[in-house]
Amino acid sequence: MTEVQVVRLPHIVEPLDPATQPPRVIPGYVQTGWRTPEKLWRRPLTRSEFTGPSGQGRRLAQLGADIAGRGERQALGQLIHVRLALVDEDGSPVTGAMVEMWQANAAGRYAHPNDTEHAPLDPNFPGAARVVTDESGRIEFRTIKPGGYPVPDSRRWWRPPHLHFSVWGRSFLSRMVTQMFFPGEPLNAQDRILLSVASSDAREALVARALPTTEGPDDALVYEHRIVVRGRRATAELD
Ligand SMILES: [Fe+2]
Repeated sequence: MTEVQVVRLPHIVEPLDPATQPPRVIPGYVQTGWRTPEKLWRRPLTRSEFTGPSGQGRRLAQLGADIAGRGERQALGQLIHVRLALVDEDGSPVTGAMVEMWQANAAGRYAHPNDTEHAPLDPNFPGAARVVTDESGRIEFRTIKPGGYPVPDSRRWWRPPHLHFSVWGRSFLSRMVTQMFFPGEPLNAQDRILLSVASSDAREALVARALPTTEGPDDALVYEHRIVVRGRRATAELD
């Protein structure tokens, strides 16, 4: 009878540097206090969770990566392409991951019942994308640049333009939520969420890179962004 050899891989994921991640309660951001338990136990995920319900990419409708309009009708705003690279701690592409992106429209309003701000909705802007990465780990989103918006009950704190991302691993418990910021935005320097990350390198990693206007399509500005899903250089998780 052949002897089965069990190969144990070394545990190579280094612990995170706390300076690269926001605190659970962000000073001045009231909602983080509401949704943070007084006591929190972080239980490591085990095999039963990682092998648990999976296949989100098959269960949920794929919304595609082009949300710059509905059919022939283009959403209002500056057309942009966002080239997202999803990588692991070694810089290798993360394949088969479901990536969701949602954002405000050009006027700073979300197409969601919770957003009751005065800014108008855009009937031609769906506001959310959902795509599964292929072997390249890359997605090119076609969308419009979001507007900034005031945070309710915050004494005039305005969010800078940003995109929200959720990345799902193989099981539904393996999930990362973060945000992407745009370079050169004056509101970046005052944003309580971006500033909650202590490390300047980690903050910089949350800001996309603008490509020269000579690159990419004629009708859109192009941004490049990288999300590192784990490891010491993991992208900061931002709700
Ligand atoms: Fe937002």
